[in-house]
Amino acid sequence: MDNATGFSNAALPITLTINGAEQRLAVEPRTTLLDLLRETLHLTGTKKGCDHGQCGACTVLVDGQRRVSCLALACAHDGASITTIEGLGTDDELHPVQQAFLDYDAYQCGYCTPGQICSAVGLLQEGHARTRNEIRELMSGNLCRCGAYANISDAILSVLSQQETV
Ligand code: FES
Ligand code: FES
Repeated sequence: MDNATGFSNAALPITLTINGAEQRLAVEPRTTLLDLLRETLHLTGTKKGCDHGQCGACTVLVDGQRRVSCLALACAHDGASITTIEGLGTDDELHPVQQAFLDYDAYQCGYCTPGQICSAVGLLQEGHARTRNEIRELMSGNLCRCGAYANISDAILSVLSQQETV
């Protein structure tokens, strides 16, 4: 049915690959990727902070690129491959960035942590960060109200140096 603005609210069929599994879904045009993940698919590891693209808590990987999912309309990503925190590593073998966050105490309350980790994985794949200052700059879209920034950059730096020695 059309709403008062004249735009249709009819659900649109889309297909997403989420953490490696293809899912056929019907989404309203206004549904954000964040709400689809959390409210429909119950992947609540991805957090809602500001819901305005300003905190990075909702960061996921879309076709390998880090994106704030609160500003992404689900219907605009038909065919995309989405990786959330649930899709990184396993209970038996954490992703190297997850392990580094544990090893370096890179969190306090943990609310920002899934977004920080997804963003860090994207950052490392981008290959632009080589120094602590570059990590800080390129992670600046992910806020941490607990102020765990020093340990977060330590953790990312440690994974970066492991990659450089391989
Ligand atoms: S919840 Fe998406 S950037 Fe804050
Ligand atoms: S660990 Fe609490 S907001 Fe970052």
